Amino acid sequence: MNRAKGTYDVLPNDIKKWQYLENIAKNIATKYNFSEIRTPIFEYSGVFHRESELSDMVTKETYNFKDKGNRDLTLRPEGTAGVIRAYVENKLYVESDLLKVYSIGPNFRYERPQKGRYRQFSQFSLEAIGIKSALLDAEVIKMSQEFIETLGLKNVSIEINSIGDLKSRENYLEALVNYLTPFKEELSNDSKERLIKNPLRILDSKDKKDQEIIKDAPKPIDYLSVESSNYFNELLKYLKIFNVNYKVNNQLVRGLDYYSDTVFEVKAEIKDFGAQNVLGGGGRYDNLVSELGGPKTSAIGFAFGMERLLYALEAEEVLNLEEDSLDVFIINFSKEFNLYTTSLLTELRNNNYFVDLDFTNKSFKSQLKKALKLNAKILVIVGDEEFNNNMVTVKNTKTEEQTTIKKDELIKTIKKELGY
Ligand code: HAM
Repeated sequence: MNRAKGTYDVLPNDIKKWQYLENIAKNIATKYNFSEIRTPIFEYSGVFHRESELSDMVTKETYNFKDKGNRDLTLRPEGTAGVIRAYVENKLYVESDLLKVYSIGPNFRYERPQKGRYRQFSQFSLEAIGIKSALLDAEVIKMSQEFIETLGLKNVSIEINSIGDLKSRENYLEALVNYLTPFKEELSNDSKERLIKNPLRILDSKDKKDQEIIKDAPKPIDYLSVESSNYFNELLKYLKIFNVNYKVNNQLVRGLDYYSDTVFEVKAEIKDFGAQNVLGGGGRYDNLVSELGGPKTSAIGFAFGMERLLYALEAEEVLNLEEDSLDVFIINFSKEFNLYTTSLLTELRNNNYFVDLDFTNKSFKSQLKKALKLNAKILVIVGDEEFNNNMVTVKNTKTEEQTTIKKDELIKTIKKELGY
């Protein structure tokens, strides 16, 4: 049997990379006072399939199924809607005026798999729910910059835009549709469909001809209401104070429909990465909490794709992983000595040493090979002589020095050799 299309295994050899990345994500979230939240991987379909959400991701790419109780369920394609469902259901708005949460976990989208694009993929995502403040937007964008810097990624840029509030959007959509309608026959089939259902998404088209047409299309920024325009200008000021290196991209729209005002994306210039160069993105959303049954509440968040980050770290050769090592490896020559070596193993573990042993009693050479592969710092060797005299041989693999000592001096000797 093979793994399902668009999925991958994280094998023991790769897990360190994941843990490294997850730790940096957790540390930065904690530094900015975000707490972890874990919501279900599946939700009732209505959490994602909302009337206002017409993005391909939700209408075409979700994994939907019925359970045995005939309930409609959907594997989460992204984290935000589930977190907001939890926020509303648990009335977290009663506890404080701002909830700051992050999570790391899998999402599912039925997309065409390619490098950096999977059907099950993992996101580091976070949401700050409750307050509308340009300062908060700036902080969240600053945090994504700091995350990228901490990872050591260099060729990365942050693009930001404002798509305005509801009023701005209505004005803009009217102008956009007026501009695009004469080009209708020249647009790609997808964009023709979007012209009716969701014209904003045409700005994000990857089709060359569409892009030619869009080049001269009206820009959301020119249709902002006074409030949205002031808000965006305030955000830019805060970003300067925070020393965020951003570019305003007036054509930036996001792949989901719940955004309003601030949107941003973090892009990497990495060869062979093609359209998958967006490491992360996010923005503000004013209507999702009320759509999911909560009070009118504004929020902002972002999500980074973990696979793309790992790919970027490897491509830029900035993955700083510590090598695995063992404190002690016990070499045991005969099954007869098993009880004796087990008592050594237990004693070492009781003293918190990181120990392993060989279960095969193969030749010294083959056990030594295994120990060196595991980067064991110390070998504890038990042969006939050691066994018969209640002794052990301790060998330091670095200095290659070895001594044969009494069994009850083992911990003292290890401590001396390792310095801990
Ligand atoms: P998104 O832009 O759809 O936003 O996804 C965020 C990131 O997830 C992308 O930039 C990309 O790195 C990664 N990603 C998306 N799809 C795939 C895939 N098929 N394979 C691998 N990586 C992928 C959101 O999901 C929003 N919930 C972000 C947000 C949070 N906005 C506000 N709060």
